[in-house]
Amino acid sequence: MIKQFINPTTLPTDTTLTKADLDTPFLAIDLDKMDANVARISQGTKDFNVQWRPHCKGHKSSIIASRLVAAGAIGATCAKLAEAEVMVRGGVNDVLIANLIVGEAKLKRLANLCQSGDPIVCIDHMDQATPMSEAMVQAGVECRVIIEVNIGLDRVGCSPEKTLELARQLHALPGIQFAGIMGYEGHLLTIEDQDEKRSEIENALRLLAENAAQLQAEGIPCEIVSCGGTGSYLLSRMQDGITELQAGGGMFMDQFYEQQCQVTELQKALTVTATIVGRPGADRAIIDAGKKTLHVEYEPAIVVGRDDIVVDRFSAEHGELQLNGDAQQLKIGERIELVPGYADMTCVLHDFFYVFQGDTLVDIWPLEARGLLQ
Ligand SMILES: Cc1ncc(COP(=O)(O)O)c(C=O)c1O
Repeated sequence: MIKQFINPTTLPTDTTLTKADLDTPFLAIDLDKMDANVARISQGTKDFNVQWRPHCKGHKSSIIASRLVAAGAIGATCAKLAEAEVMVRGGVNDVLIANLIVGEAKLKRLANLCQSGDPIVCIDHMDQATPMSEAMVQAGVECRVIIEVNIGLDRVGCSPEKTLELARQLHALPGIQFAGIMGYEGHLLTIEDQDEKRSEIENALRLLAENAAQLQAEGIPCEIVSCGGTGSYLLSRMQDGITELQAGGGMFMDQFYEQQCQVTELQKALTVTATIVGRPGADRAIIDAGKKTLHVEYEPAIVVGRDDIVVDRFSAEHGELQLNGDAQQLKIGERIELVPGYADMTCVLHDFFYVFQGDTLVDIWPLEARGLLQ
């Protein structure tokens, strides 16, 4: 039995490996479930004539981003310049950096990225745009920019009343090409009442549609109107004026999306396998996966196929389970599989996705952009 790989991205070709062959804890993708989720989101955006630019901040893998493009995505949304660099290096050129890029070092890298890829960057203030324009002119390139509009999340973004004026100024700058607007309705994902959620999302995204119409009326082309996360995409895709959606984490799904955002049509494709390492009491077990392996803050993890186990307390390297009924038979050395509370923040704790079809290991994908925070 092979327990370790010298280079974990290289699978031995002469052996079929199963979950039992891997040491724990490890992060696993169920490929068939992930592909089914991807097909569903991709078709679900097409049905509404909206394009899909899935966020890569969770998977951080150009292999996955390329797979999503093959399944219909137009490119990737990134949270960091470094993520965009990794995606372009991996062959996904049409990358939206849904963030503000500031500082000489990053602007130099952005100009370089414009040579090999086709990035889009967010702006919400001329103090980001002016140095960007200068840096792009100096490098002899043009970078696409979109305005991030604050549609209620109150994180970044100019107020909708200021979009037109900012767009006029951006449109006149050399070295940058004004391409549209975006907003993120992240503050509306967890509204419980579905009618209220629908109407709040309508109201928020109407601000983007109105801004886009104002720009078009002035003769400023507004090709991109981007928004949307997994927790809202079913509603956001049907709003007037939206051209693309950023929903990313839905390809893995997790407890947060299901329990708090009421997303129910996607399957749980991401799990962590852990070993029971301690049994301090008849109704208690300790696993070798704590907060450094699984993100449990937004929503607790669950144990696959076991409603007789409650995931209780987590510390850095220990997870504590409460065992009920038959689960009290579990012994030290046995394994369980957990669905993370929040997939996004769980992935970034790991170097590799172990990719399975059924119980067979079919691939190992590195999270290449993990730790690349600049
Ligand atoms: C700008 C932006 N877009 C989209 C999303 C949604 O991402 P996901 O679909 O992975 O939940 C987020 C989440 O934080 C975000 O910050």
